[in-house]
Parts: sequence; C-alpha cells; structure tokens
Amino acid sequence: MSQFALEVENLAKVYERRGQKPVRAVDGISFSVPRGEIFGLLGPNGAGKTTLLKVLTTLLRPTSGSARIEGFDVVAKPLDVRKRISMVLQETAAELFLSVRDNLLTFARFHGLDSRTARQRADTVMERFQITSHAEQKVQDLSGGSRRRVQVSKMFMVNTPVIFLDEFSTGMDPILKRAVMGYLREESAKGRTIVLTTQILSEAEDLCDDILIMNRGKQVARGDLNALKLLSAGVYEISLTFDALPETIAEDVAALKPLRSHVDDNTVEIALKVEEAQVLDIVSSLSKRGRVLRVEVSGASLEDIFVELTKEK
Ligand SMILES: Nc1ncnc2c1ncn2[C@@H]1O[C@H](COP(=O)(O)OP(=O)(O)OP(=O)(O)O)[C@@H](O)[C@H]1O
Ligand SMILES: [Mg+2]
Repeated sequence: MSQFALEVENLAKVYERRGQKPVRAVDGISFSVPRGEIFGLLGPNGAGKTTLLKVLTTLLRPTSGSARIEGFDVVAKPLDVRKRISMVLQETAAELFLSVRDNLLTFARFHGLDSRTARQRADTVMERFQITSHAEQKVQDLSGGSRRRVQVSKMFMVNTPVIFLDEFSTGMDPILKRAVMGYLREESAKGRTIVLTTQILSEAEDLCDDILIMNRGKQVARGDLNALKLLSAGVYEISLTFDALPETIAEDVAALKPLRSHVDDNTVEIALKVEEAQVLDIVSSLSKRGRVLRVEVSGASLEDIFVELTKEK
C-alpha cells in the first residue's frame, strides 16, 4: 500500500452553467499527503478550496485528472473512499431534527462503532466541545456556533484514517479553537491524516506540516512554512510604536508602497519587500517622525507570503 493517504494528479473541476462562462474552479492541482500529516489548503475567497474538498470527498465528480484516498480512486471507488473519511464542509448541516447526542451516536454507528464505545466517546467529545449542556436539544434549536461544534466534534467520534475540515474554526471562540487545534494534533499523532482549509493564516502556521496555497484554481506555492518563507525572502515586517502617532504617518507609509500596512493606536505595522540594507534606513527615517517607544523588525510571516503570492497582477 502506498505511504500516501492522498494522491492527487492534475485534478480539475469546471462548473458548466447554461448561458454562462464555465468556471475552472480547480485547474490542474497535483499533490500528495503522507499518512499522519496535517495538510493545509490556503487561498482567498473563490480560490477553489471547497470545490477541491468536494471532489476529494466524492461529493463532486472531477472534470479531469485523478485523486486517490488511501489508495482508492474517488470516481471508481467512492464507497471505499467514504468509509475511510469523515468531513466537515463549509455548508454541512448536522441532522437538524436529532439531538446533539443522537447526531454523534448516529454518525458513530454509520462508521461501525459498537454502541457502548459510541456512548462513552460521545460523553467525552461533548465535554471537550462544551456541548454537554445541549446534549438532548435538537440541533435545529442551537446557535450557528454550537452547530459548528457539533459538526466538528463528530470527527472525534470515529477513527477514519482521513479527516477533511473546511474552515473548521468558523464561529468558535479563541479558547475552544486552541483546544480543538490541540485535539487535531493528537489525532494526527495517532496517524490520522488531516486536510483542512483556512483563511486564518495563524491557524495554518500553528497546525500544518505542509501547506498548499491556491488561487483561481491553481497552485501558487507549496511547502512547509520554512520553505514558503524562503520563497518570499526579502519580505520584512516592521513594527514601530510611537508615544503619539505622527500626523503624516499614513502618507509616509504609503510612499513606501508596502505589501501590507496597519495602524493600531500608536503602533504602525508595515510589511515590505526590500533589500536588507534598506530596512534600517526605512526604520530610521520613520523614527524621525515622532518619539519611538518600540521598534521590531522580523522576517516574512505566512500572511506576507500569502499577500505576495495571491495579489492580482
Ligand atoms: N455550484 C457552483 N456552480 C458554479 N460555480 C461555482 C459553484 N460552486 C463554486 N463555484 C465557483 O467556483 C470558484 C471556486 O469556489 P469555491 O467555493 O471552491 O472557493 P473557496 O476557495 O472555497 O472560497 P471561500 O474561501 O469563499 O470558501 C468560485 O469562482 C465560485 O464562484
Ligand atoms: Mg470555501
């Protein structure tokens, strides 16, 4: 058996609508994911992330190319694929008319868990996702955020070798999100493979062993975080805190043509693509505009890389 949980070759999905231009939502993507890895699909709105996940999870047929999950082709062997995966898609609905507990138990039964194990696991999982107090409530009566928790919590009911998560953290508060990221790491340490999409770059930075950045259906970059950082060598982040924000600072910053800039209270943050030798000059010239309390210069973050790679040319 292959060492890879996912093997995707030149995959494309074109949406055809009568009277409309076809949309090449996924346009020739290839990658493979070794077992036990956390793989992140990143891209701006409309990049094709959800479409790609739908093809990989057998919900949509690819237009061309191929994909295998745990060695099974998504078109030729969809049932074998489905047995080995669990997923939370962006628009996934939980079973609205069932209680939270019954949602978890039904899902576990579908994946062949015996009912004793399922009951025990449901208790642990509900505790972890802070939905124990809703256990007997119908999902339709829950808030959007709680529904999302129910959906994501299902992934921890079963042992499918592969998990797909489309923007899993939507509607979760930061504390729960941290905890869930920890649970995902535990699952990956047990050998489960996790494929997730996100637009929250710090999530990908913290979680993913490997990242694919896509835009308009195509790959724009691929690698672990260090490799991606090398890609954008020459990008620097400068952060300056003044005792009072200089009046002309907005124009001064704009004149530098930054990749990104942000002003918050008395702090100015700028991401720039420049020669290393220029960085100090820029810092010193900006510092002359006011009284500086703190200066920080660092290399590229995933956010800089993302902006650089997906900006409209
Ligand atoms: N059912 C559909 N019919 C036609 N076009 C579609 C359909 N679903 C998506 N698209 C188009 O395909 C492209 C990719 O959409 P997709 O939802 O896969 O992107 P995404 O990366 O998941 O975006 P987001 O970050 O907003 O979730 C977009 O241009 C979108 O308008
Ligand atoms: Mg999407």
